[in-house]
Amino acid sequence: MVTRMRILGIETSCDETAAAVVDGSAPSGTRLLSHRLLSQTAEHAAFGGVVPEIAARSHLDHVDRLVGEAMGDAGLSFDAIDGVAVTAGPGLIGGVIVGVMTAKAIAAVTGKPFLGVNHLEGHALSVRLEADVPFPYLLLLVSGGHCQLLSVDGVGRYRRLGGTLDDAVGEAFDKTAKMLGLGFPGGPAVERAARAGDAKRFALPRPMLGRPGCDFSFSGLKTAVRQAATALAAAGAGGERDVADLCASFQAAVAAVLADRARHAMRAFERLHEESTRTFVVAGGVAANAMLRASLEAAAASEGFAMAAPPPWLCTDNGAMIAWAGAERLRLGLVDSLDLAPRPRWPLDELSRAAG
Ligand code: KG4
Ligand code: ZN
Repeated sequence: MVTRMRILGIETSCDETAAAVVDGSAPSGTRLLSHRLLSQTAEHAAFGGVVPEIAARSHLDHVDRLVGEAMGDAGLSFDAIDGVAVTAGPGLIGGVIVGVMTAKAIAAVTGKPFLGVNHLEGHALSVRLEADVPFPYLLLLVSGGHCQLLSVDGVGRYRRLGGTLDDAVGEAFDKTAKMLGLGFPGGPAVERAARAGDAKRFALPRPMLGRPGCDFSFSGLKTAVRQAATALAAAGAGGERDVADLCASFQAAVAAVLADRARHAMRAFERLHEESTRTFVVAGGVAANAMLRASLEAAAASEGFAMAAPPPWLCTDNGAMIAWAGAERLRLGLVDSLDLAPRPRWPLDELSRAAG
């Protein structure tokens, strides 16, 4: 008999307040029972980025309602759930505290297990919510704050193969959008603009391309985009056509770098896991980008890897991935105490050391 495992998940670590309920014991495709999300985009747009104080206050205003709605949509009372999972870090600490206190209160009142989830683990395992992707797999985690390649050996077991030496790739998208006046958040806006653009017009650098290892660097690319944008402005250009071409050229440079680094990581992964299946997973907000997904899929195929990626809504921050990671942890008995401290910084490979 499968033990029932309905988990409430809460996410408040950045600018999305989200709550969801998943059933960890159900077959893939039927696990998501509900999913509510409130994006704070409009509240931060005027500032061109996320303002931590505004984010924390907004989470506080909305989290109770979203949790109530997620529970209502799932048709469940708190007595009917089997655990409460929440992002306990890394992230903007004010927001993380709001989520953690909410989850602890629910766990304390109901006596249900409390699961403090690492946000990055939420992204890392998100693909398994809707598809049966077995361990180990190679993961490219690309979001607003992170850009890393990891061998995901199991729940709580991560080996870092490489990461960014400076900016995260989502940050590069956001800064490019800001420089070109495309607004915030930048990723979707750059992707939209790039669709009509000529990717060959601007010869932008492809940092780290062909270098040994699996590290990334995006600061040189960002500088080159700024120089191109400044040159366009000085020439009195910078209309829709120019912006589209620059976005397309930027996206093509990112795609080339990600594919190159991923190919190196696939070879490193093969050395680590000679006998295992070869699966390459892309997750995190930037993985919502259709052009990047297609280019990474081609890179994976060329190395004999099958690519798997969560659907776009599950790539950007959400409560379902936190609920799911909670279910995966509860299944292994990895329950946390109500003393667990929220953490602004929390590298994923620290979890592996704790798991032994
Ligand atoms: O995972 P996520 O929602 O939050 C973090 O944990 O950081 O990722 C947000 C990042 C932002 O930088 C956003 O611009 C980027 O993901 N992003 C995209 C796209 N959608 C979101 N980047 C490129 N193309 C997209 N379609
Ligand atoms: Zn995230």
